[in-house]
Amino acid sequence: MDIKYNLKPASERRTEPFEPQGDVGFGKLRTDHMFMMDYKDGQWQNARILPYGPFEMMPGAMALHYGQSIFEGAKAFMHDDGEIYTFRLDKNAQRLNRSADIVCIPNIPEAVQLEAINALIDVDRLWFPRQEGACLYIRPFVFATEDRLSVSPANQYTFCVVLSPSGAYYGKNLNAIRLLITTQFHRAVSGGTGASKAAGNYAASLRAGKAAAEHGAAQVLYLDSTNQYIEEVGAMNHFHIRKDGTLIIPEFTDTILRSITSESILALGEELGCEVRQETVKLSDFIADIEAGEIVEAGGFGTAAVVSPVGSYIFEDGRIVTVGDGKVGERISHIYKVYTEMQKGLRPAPEGWVRKVERRS
Ligand SMILES: Cc1ncc(COP(=O)(O)O)c(C=O)c1O
Repeated sequence: MDIKYNLKPASERRTEPFEPQGDVGFGKLRTDHMFMMDYKDGQWQNARILPYGPFEMMPGAMALHYGQSIFEGAKAFMHDDGEIYTFRLDKNAQRLNRSADIVCIPNIPEAVQLEAINALIDVDRLWFPRQEGACLYIRPFVFATEDRLSVSPANQYTFCVVLSPSGAYYGKNLNAIRLLITTQFHRAVSGGTGASKAAGNYAASLRAGKAAAEHGAAQVLYLDSTNQYIEEVGAMNHFHIRKDGTLIIPEFTDTILRSITSESILALGEELGCEVRQETVKLSDFIADIEAGEIVEAGGFGTAAVVSPVGSYIFEDGRIVTVGDGKVGERISHIYKVYTEMQKGLRPAPEGWVRKVERRS
């Protein structure tokens, strides 16, 4: 792919490695540049890296009206050799195209996505935050730009990638959160868009998030539309661990996003010291097994936190069910350690998971 570079003048760009003094937070900062590419006349074209800044977009741009907009979220890490490495970025590129299929957006070849992201990270590599547990958060997204007020797939789109230097998600220790088990709100129904990272799915989750906060919970546990089976946790997959060490993730269906973290945990299996499998999880069995001490740990998997341990669940009527002693369990702490060590290059990862961002100049 031929990428045009329109970079900021050297006097306006970062010239020294980023050594943040305080906590940089998650998703707040941006680097100097972004990548853009347009879809027009049936093809992706005009790949460019340009200064980070506002877009020009017509008020009739279809993404604004009919929500044809999808995104991804991935991370890159700095290893001890001072080089930046992406983690399972090819999986994100594949998933962007799965989301694209679901909301009728043209695919972007995986190789094109990977080259775009690598080129952008290379240009802004000095922005990597040199701080324990930090990363470059990678946000690719695609949205319909065609100026037309009618509900049908647009003929014009933009693919954009921005980078966010982000700090460690947790301080020294993992925290256990509480989840609201909601029968009032649903994230997805079969035949809908739940298996995609369509922007509208996240708008639709905001009310549920507010309800969770009103119950003193950090997030919601979504059930299927019949309120019988466990689906997801906010923007994470759900999992639990049984007394015998088996880790269970709900079966992927068209109402559950295929988390790359979950897929990685499934692939690592033995290396994590436990059997990992997927099955449909009935809420009533799940609660009974927690109360009987058969389920000893639970949590969510997702790129942002890697793993978010759950200490307790609260029902909409105020009933609380505590998992184990309500604190972060040993197995979850071990999974978090192994996974983050692979990301940081401190432990070998399976072939192809960790890829160096080559220096182009
Ligand atoms: C709805 C939903 N489920 C699960 C996940 C976790 O997926 P991943 O591990 O690929 O970040 C995410 C985040 O991308 C999400 O938005």
